[in-house]
Amino acid sequence: MAVGMHKILVIGIGIFVSCLLLQCEQVDAKEYIVGDEKRWSPDANLTQWTEGKKFKAGDVLVFKYSKDPFLMVAAVRDKYLFEKCDLYAGAINIYRSGNDHVVLEKGTTYFAPYLTPYCENGMKLTIDVE
Ligand SMILES: *[C@@H]1O[C@H](CO)[C@@H](O)[C@H](O)[C@H]1NC(C)=O
Repeated sequence: MAVGMHKILVIGIGIFVSCLLLQCEQVDAKEYIVGDEKRWSPDANLTQWTEGKKFKAGDVLVFKYSKDPFLMVAAVRDKYLFEKCDLYAGAINIYRSGNDHVVLEKGTTYFAPYLTPYCENGMKLTIDVE
């Protein structure tokens, strides 16, 4: 019995170590603060922020903002609704904590403040995940 437990422990450690060596996806995942020092705010140039970044599935976006209800984040997968800022109809998720961690999935996801008027004013984020 004791020997069995010992073997399981060794196998567990072996998996953990090879995971580190092979850079399992989770170890490799990056975390991005949206907008960098400007955070998730109308002052951030989100188009510029995404330039040169290569997002992967499993990467994490962190939306940081004061508890301004107007900044609550809607995630949308429908481009048409996103372009219209019709987030009520299109949202697949709403984030409202002010320190929201969003794990990226393959494909294109769009983010914008859930409530008007920031979306209409151009505060929009398009994330392409290969
Ligand atoms: C944001 O950045 C893009 C690309 O660098 C630029 O073309 C655009 O004019 C900027 N927008 C604002 C509002 O500064």
